[in-house]
Amino acid sequence: MLRIGNVQLASNLFLAPIAGYCDLAFRLVCRSQGGLGLACTDLLSPQGLLRGTATSLDLAQTNDVDRPVGMQLYGGDPETMAQGAAWAAEHGATIIDVNMGCPVDKVTKKDGGSKLLCIPETAEAIVRAVVKEVGDRVPVTCKMRLGWHDCQPVAEWLAPRLVDAGVSAVTIHGRTTEQKFSGEVSLDGIARVVEAVGGRVPVIGNGDVREPQDAAEMIRGTGCDGVMIGRGALSTPWLFRDAWALQTSGVVPPAPSVEDRILLVRRYFDLMLEFRDERYAMYQIRRRITWFAKRLPPCKPLKEAIRTAAGPGEVWSVLEAFASGELRSRPGYGDDAENQADAADTNPSRTLSAA
Ligand SMILES: Cc1cc2nc3c(=O)[nH]c(=O)nc-3n(C[C@H](O)[C@H](O)[C@H](O)COP(=O)(O)O)c2cc1C
Repeated sequence: MLRIGNVQLASNLFLAPIAGYCDLAFRLVCRSQGGLGLACTDLLSPQGLLRGTATSLDLAQTNDVDRPVGMQLYGGDPETMAQGAAWAAEHGATIIDVNMGCPVDKVTKKDGGSKLLCIPETAEAIVRAVVKEVGDRVPVTCKMRLGWHDCQPVAEWLAPRLVDAGVSAVTIHGRTTEQKFSGEVSLDGIARVVEAVGGRVPVIGNGDVREPQDAAEMIRGTGCDGVMIGRGALSTPWLFRDAWALQTSGVVPPAPSVEDRILLVRRYFDLMLEFRDERYAMYQIRRRITWFAKRLPPCKPLKEAIRTAAGPGEVWSVLEAFASGELRSRPGYGDDAENQADAADTNPSRTLSAA
C-alpha cells in the first residue's frame, strides 16, 4: 500500500490535474468507480485563494466525499506559495502539490510551473517554505517534467534535492517542457528519476496511460511506485478501477455497459449543476462530451445532440435516448465508417492546448 507522508492511500493510482477538467464533479465520478488512490485539484493560484476570487474558490471546491484530495499550487514566490498552502490545508487539502511542470507562458513568465526546473534554487526554496508552513499538518509533494530542454534532463538531479527539502512524493511526467504533449512519454526518463530518488519517497510516473496495461507497463518498466492518469480518465473514468484490478488480480473487469457509461455522464452533469450553475454545466458538458463519447460509439449522434442541446432538459433527454438505443439507431447514425473515423480522430492533444 502506498503512503505519502502520513497519508495512507487505498491504491497507487492518481487522477492528474488537468486545468478546466478535473473539477470536483469529475473527481467524484472517478471516485465512484473505485481504484483511485488520490485525486488532485487543477492548478490553483495562491494569490487568488488568498484574495478569495470567485474563480479560484470554484477551482478549489471540495467536499467530504472528495478525499483524499491534493490541492495543487503554482507560482514562483516561496512566501506566497507558503501562504497559499496554509489556505489549502485549512480548506480540505489532504496533500499540497507544487506545480513544476506547467509549460504555459502565463505561468512560466512568473517563474512558476516548469520554469522552476530552470531555477532549482527557487524550486527548493518554495518546497522549504511550504513544508515549513504546513509540513506538520499535510504532506507536500511536487509534480514535474523531465526538464525544460529536450537535451538537458533536470528532474533526476532536482528530485533528490527536493526530497532533501521535504517533499513526501515526486510525480514525474515523462516529457520535457519543449515537448509539451508531443512525442511519446519516456519511460527511461521516469526510471532515471526513480533511481535517483532511491526509494526515499514514492515516485509517481505519468504520461500517456490510456489502458490498464499501460499503467502496469509503466510500473514494470520504470520501477515507479504509482501511476498518475490524466487524459485517459476523461474518456474512461473507470480506468482506475481497471488498472487497480489488473495490478491486484491480474484481470481487467468487464467494461461498464452503455447504460452505465451514460449514467456516469449524467452523474457528472448533475453534479456540475449542483456545484456550479446551469450556464457552466452546459459549457462543460458540451466541450467534454467529445471525451466521454470516445467510449460511447457511435459517438457522432451523441456529440452532435449534446453540443446543440438548449438546456439541461434536453441533455437529459439525449442521454436517455442514447442509453435506450433510440438515438443510436436513427437513420444515418449507424456504426459506420464516419463514426469510426470520428472516434479515432478525437485527438485530445488537439482539443486540449493548455498546461
Ligand atoms: C489541458 C491540460 C491541462 C493540464 N493542467 C495541468 C495542471 O493544472 N497541473 C498539472 O500539474 N498538470 C496539468 N496538465 C498535465 C497533466 O497533469 C499530465 O501531466 C499530462 O496530461 C500527461 O498525462 P496524461 O497523458 O495521463 O494526460 C495538464 C494537461 C492538459 C492536457
